Amino acid sequence: MKKTNKIIIAIDGFSSTGKSTLAKHIAKKLEYIYVDTGAMYRAVSLYAMQNNLISKNSFLKDTLISKLPNIELEFKYNEKLGFAEMFLNGENVENKIRSIEVSNMVSKVAAVSEVREKLVEQQQKMGRKKGVVMDGRDIGTVVFPDAELKIFMLATADKRAKRRFKEMTDDGKNISYQAVLKNVTQRDFIDTTRKDSPLIMAEDAIAIDNSDLNVNETFNKVYTYVKQRINLNK
Ligand code: DC
Repeated sequence: MKKTNKIIIAIDGFSSTGKSTLAKHIAKKLEYIYVDTGAMYRAVSLYAMQNNLISKNSFLKDTLISKLPNIELEFKYNEKLGFAEMFLNGENVENKIRSIEVSNMVSKVAAVSEVREKLVEQQQKMGRKKGVVMDGRDIGTVVFPDAELKIFMLATADKRAKRRFKEMTDDGKNISYQAVLKNVTQRDFIDTTRKDSPLIMAEDAIAIDNSDLNVNETFNKVYTYVKQRINLNK
């Protein structure tokens, strides 16, 4: 591929809109680094669960804040999988962080400003040299407000829950569609109404509603914008 100036591509939006599939695909095509920031919030949530700091009815927020210096997060590239996996204090937690239990806790943890501060700092470091595709909720608004391309993904809650349900059952997880739908709508609510860095579309972002688009159609649509931004002909 012709060498071009590297840019930062921010992909934000609602949960289960296919942000990570899209971001991985773009990163592969451009030979950029892909960063899944949701995985980082999930890993901190897993830490809180493993240390009994959070459960359905309680959250020892201040204790979690005091333990933040003990939480080491690292992405390690897996050749076979073709993407980086999340490590929490040296342990590969890529699978554990995708459970419904973690999904049910993560929005609460992601609402804590001190957690966000730590993770945002780490994310900004990862993007210092550009050439990254980063997906999350606040990438275009907080982490990289000057990103050269900002995409904001949305789709109906029903379509998103159906996709997530299929993914989870294909993965062998025992879960009902209703439980997935409930998780999706609850997370939408907490993510959009939290005080610190709520999920909102940056003014200069391009909205993509993929309720009726498949993975390839979504990619093709977004890749047109990518090519415009980096003056690529192919
Ligand atoms: O993208 P995901 O579903 O794996 O993200 C998990 C949660 O983390 C999501 O409910 C909101 C939170 N999150 C966030 O607050 N900011 C980000 N940049 C990424 C994720």
